[in-house]
Amino acid sequence: MLQIQENISLKPYNSFGIDVRAGYFAEVFSEADLNSLFKNVIVKSKQLLIIGGGSNVLFTEDYDGLVVKISIKGIQSKVIDDRVLVTAGAGEVWNDFVNYCVEHHFAGVENLSLIPGTVGASPIQNIGAYGVELKDVFESCTAFEIKTGEIKTFNYNDCHFGYRESIFKRALKGQYIITSVTFRLSSEAKINTSYGAIETELLNRGIKNPNIADVSAAVSHIRVSKLPDPSTIGNAGSFFKNPVIEKHEFADIVAKHPDVVHYPTADNKIKLAAGWLIEQCGWKGKVVGQTGTWKNQALVLVNHGHATGTEVYNFSEQIIDSVKSTFGVTLEREVNIL
Ligand code: FAD
Ligand code: EPU
Repeated sequence: MLQIQENISLKPYNSFGIDVRAGYFAEVFSEADLNSLFKNVIVKSKQLLIIGGGSNVLFTEDYDGLVVKISIKGIQSKVIDDRVLVTAGAGEVWNDFVNYCVEHHFAGVENLSLIPGTVGASPIQNIGAYGVELKDVFESCTAFEIKTGEIKTFNYNDCHFGYRESIFKRALKGQYIITSVTFRLSSEAKINTSYGAIETELLNRGIKNPNIADVSAAVSHIRVSKLPDPSTIGNAGSFFKNPVIEKHEFADIVAKHPDVVHYPTADNKIKLAAGWLIEQCGWKGKVVGQTGTWKNQALVLVNHGHATGTEVYNFSEQIIDSVKSTFGVTLEREVNIL
C-alpha cells in the first residue's frame, strides 16, 4: 500500500550518512504505485527527487519536497542461443543482480561486482569499473514519464552514454523514472582481466583459467581493500570524475610532472587519474573536521561520523582549488549535489 510519509530523516537512505530531512517521502514497489503517486494532488505540486540506494548523492540541506525511493523488484531472463537478455526491476540491488548473473553463468557484468546502488540508477551515470561500463551490456530500459505517466522504452542510441554520462543526467534530467533495465549478456564468457590488479589477484589465488565467478570474486576483493564500506564510513565512491583533457594540455602537465598517471581515451584525448592528482596535492588520508579523503584512495571523500553535507562540499571546493593551482586542471564532481 503506497504511503506518503512526512518529515522523515534521510540518513538511512544515503551512503554518505548525512542527516537531513525530507518534507515528504514515498517508496514505490511497482509501476502501478508510480501511477497512483503521480495522481495525488499534493505530489503534483512538489519538487521531486528520485533515489535508489542513495550511493551517489550528497545532501547539503533538508530536501523541501518529495523523495521517491524506487524499490521495483524482479529479474527475468530469456536465452536466445548464446545470448541472454536479462531484465531487472529498477529497485533490485545492483550487486544482487550481478550475483544472480554470475550464479546463472550469464557473462558480462562480473567486472562490475560490488558497485553499490540499484539497477535503475546504473544507466544514469553509465556506471563503470575494471574495464567495463554499463553501456557495454545495455540493451534497453523502460522509464515512467513524470509529465504524462506513460512508460517509454529507451534503446542504446537514445541514451547518449559517455564516461559517467547519459541523457538522463543532461537533456532529460528529472523527466523520467527508470523502472527496469534489460541487459545483453552472454552464456559464453569473454573474460576480461586486463584492468588494474585483477590478473595479479587471480594469480595470488592460483587461478590460471578464471571463470566469471573467479573474476567477480577478484574484483570484489580488490574493491574491499581500496574503498571504504559505507555501512561503517559514509562515502559515495569517487567524489570527482577522472578529468579528460586535450593532448596539448597534457603535454604541459607531463613536462612538469613526468610521472602523472594517465590513460589514452578512444576519442584521442587523455584521462588523468584524479586520485593521483589529489594525492600529489597532499590530501590523501587527510582528516579535516568530520570529513576528509580515504586513506587508501584520495578520490573518495568520507564522513567520519557527523559531517554535514556542506562540510563535505566545502572540503571538495578546497580540493578543486588545490588541484587547479597545482596542475591547471579543473575537477568535476561525479556525485550529485543536492
Ligand atoms: P542514487 O544515489 O540513489 O541516485 C543517483 C542519481 O540517479 C540521482 O540523480 C537520482 O535522482 C538518479 N536515480 C536513481 N535511481 C533512479 C531511477 N530509477 N530513475 C531515474 N533516476 C534515478 N559508481 C561507478 O560508476 N563505479 C564504481 O566503481 C563505483 N563505486 C562506488 C563505490 C562506493 C563505495 C560507493 C558508495 C559508490 C560507488 N559508485 C560507483 C557510485 C554509485 O554506486 C553509482 O553511481 C550507483 O549507480 C548509484 O546507485 P544508487 O541507486 O545508489 O543511486
Ligand atoms: N591513484 C593514486 N592515489 C590515490 C588513488 C589513485 O595515485 O589515492 C592512482 C593510482 O596510480 C591508480 C590510479 O590512480 O593506479 C587509478 O586508481 P584506481 O584504479 O583506484 O581507479 P580510479 O581511477 O581512482 C576509477 C573509477 C572507480 C572505479 C575504478 C576501477 C572514476 C571517477 N572512478 O577510479 O569508480 O571503481 O576506476 O575501475 O572513474 C566511482 O565512480 O564511484 C568509482 C569508485
